[in-house]
Amino acid sequence: MNVLGIETSCDETAAAVVAGPSKILSNVVSSQIEAHAGYGGVVPELAAREHLRNIGVVVRTALAESGLTICDIDGVAVTCRPGLIPALLVGLSYAKGVALSGGLPLIGINHFLGHIYSAFIERPDLLRDDKAFPVVALVVSGGHTALIRIDRDGTTSMLGQTLDDAAGEAFDKAAKILDLGYPGGPIIDRLARDGNPKAFDFPRGLTGGSGKPLKEQDRFNFSFSGIKTALLYKVQAGAAEGGRDKDIVASYQAAIVDVLVSKSLAAAQEYQAATLIMCGGVACNSRLRSVMTDAAREKKVALVIAPPKYCTDNAAMIGALGYHYLRHGVCSGLELAANARLGQELGKLPFAPAFRA
Ligand code: KG4
Ligand code: ZN
Repeated sequence: MNVLGIETSCDETAAAVVAGPSKILSNVVSSQIEAHAGYGGVVPELAAREHLRNIGVVVRTALAESGLTICDIDGVAVTCRPGLIPALLVGLSYAKGVALSGGLPLIGINHFLGHIYSAFIERPDLLRDDKAFPVVALVVSGGHTALIRIDRDGTTSMLGQTLDDAAGEAFDKAAKILDLGYPGGPIIDRLARDGNPKAFDFPRGLTGGSGKPLKEQDRFNFSFSGIKTALLYKVQAGAAEGGRDKDIVASYQAAIVDVLVSKSLAAAQEYQAATLIMCGGVACNSRLRSVMTDAAREKKVALVIAPPKYCTDNAAMIGALGYHYLRHGVCSGLELAANARLGQELGKLPFAPAFRA
C-alpha cells in the first residue's frame, strides 16, 4: 500500500510518498522562507500564492523520487487542520483533485498529530511495544507548545498547552526584536552557542519561580509572552549593545529550554510515562536536545526525539500517519473542510499497539 502525503498548513509546501509506517520513499519540502523574510513572519495570502505555484512540481518530484507513478498510489493523506486557512486550502484542494481523478480515498490529517507521529517514523519498535506506553509527547513548534499523553489503546489527552505564544513564536519574535532575520529559531540557536546563558535573567513563565504561586491547572501549561516583553525592555535599555547580543540570546534560549525540560519531565513522572517524545520545529534546537537528553537520563525516562528532518514541517509525517488511518479504513469524504484550529477532540491514535481493543 502506498500513500501520497501533502502538507501546506504554513510556509512549507511538502509532499511525500510512504509505503509503510516507517517506509518513506520520498520526502520533498519546498520552503518559502525568502518570500516571508522581509515581513518577519508568515503572511497567509502570500503563503497560499507560493503553495499554488509550487504544489504541482513538489508532488511530481515526490512521485519521481519514490520511483512510483500516480497509478501506484492507494490513498491521499492531507493536512486539513490546524493552520492558516488560505494555505491549508491549497493542499486540500489539490489532494481532493488527485483523489477524485484517481478514484482514491482521501485521508484528512491533523498536523499536530502528524508532528507526534514524526518521532515514531524511525522507531517502529515502539509501535509494537505495549511497554513503550503510556507516552508523554512534547509538541513544540511555531504554532504549538503542548504536552499530551497517549495510552496503549491510542487514547489521547491534552495535559497542558501554551496560554499565549508558542515556543517557536517566542524565538521568531525575539529575532524580530533584535533584527536578526527570519525564522528566528535556527538563527538564535547558532548565535547562542558563543554566548553566556547565565548573563541575563529571564522569567520562566508558569513555573512558580517568579514568587507567584503556580495554580494546579497551570502545572503543564506554558506562557512565553512575558519573556518576549522582558527581552524588549532589556533591548530598549541597551542590553544588546557592545556585542552582547550573543549573551542575551543565549540567556533567552536557556530560559525557554528550562521551562520546556522541567515541565516535560514533571509530566512524564506524574503520568508514569514509559516514553517521553519530543517533536516539532523547536525540537531541532541544539540546547533543547542536549538539556532534555541529560535530564531524561538523570530521571531515568526513555526519551525519543524526532530526527531533525522530520521535526520541521514535512509531508512524510502526514503520509505515514495517513497510512495507519487508511489501514484501519478511517477515511474522509470529499466534503473534508480546512480548519484553522487544533480541535478539542484529537481522537484515538491508530498507531498505538492496542488501538483496536
Ligand atoms: O514545526 P514547524 O516547522 O512549523 C510549525 O508547525 O509551526 O516549526 C517552525 C518553528 C519556527 O518558529 C522556528 O523558528 C522553529 O520552529 N525552529 C527552531 C529551530 N529550528 C526551527 N527553534 C529553535 N531552534 C531551532 N534550531
Ligand atoms: Zn508544524
